[in-house]
Amino acid sequence: MAERVELVLPAVDRPDATTPTPLGRLTVPGQAIPEKTVSVDPDEIARLRDAARAVAARAHAPYSRFHVGAALIMADDPQRRVIAGANVENASYGGTICAERTALTQAASLGFRKLELLVVSCVATLEAAVADRSPCGICRQVIHEFGSREPETLVIVDGGGEGALGDVFDLERLLPYGFSLGQG
Ligand code: THU
Repeated sequence: MAERVELVLPAVDRPDATTPTPLGRLTVPGQAIPEKTVSVDPDEIARLRDAARAVAARAHAPYSRFHVGAALIMADDPQRRVIAGANVENASYGGTICAERTALTQAASLGFRKLELLVVSCVATLEAAVADRSPCGICRQVIHEFGSREPETLVIVDGGGEGALGDVFDLERLLPYGFSLGQG
C-alpha cells in the first residue's frame, strides 16, 4: 500500500471584471478559490483507474464507438466499495447516459450521497487534450450534486501516459458556478 500523498491545489484569485454599457453593467464574474491541500492514495487512484478502464470494455456504444468507464468511492460508504459504470447509448441519442452518471446513479441508489473520488477513463483518447477525455457538462453538474467539502471531492481524468496518473480537479475547478438552487 503506497503512502498517502499531499496534493496542493493552487489558489485561483480572479476579480470580477465589469464594463458599463448604456443599458447597465456587464460583468465577467471572477473566481476566488483558496489554496487547498488534500491527501490522496495513489494506489486507490490506480485501482479506480483500472476499474474504469475495465468497465469501459462493457460500454454500450454502438453509435459513437467511444467507450468510457468511470469508477468511484463514496465517502459515506463504510465499505468503501468501488462502484463502476460505463456509457450506455440509445438509438434515440438523447437517451444516452455517460459513464460518470451510470456510476453515480448506482451509488445514489445504494443510498450514498457523498462523493469522495471519481476516476474517469476515455480509453480511446488517453493522451489527448484534457477536453477530449474529461466529463461533459451534464456529468459535471451531477458530480456537483454529490460533491463534498470534507473530504474534498476529487475527480481524476485518466491521463494514460507513461508515469501519469491523470489530471485532478476539485469541484470548483471541475464546474465553476455549478448550479445549486440557492444552496451555493
Ligand atoms: N461520454 C461519457 O460517457 N462520459 C464523458 O465524460 C464524455 C462522453 C460518452 C457519451 C457517449 O456515449 C460517448 O461518450 C460519446 O459522446
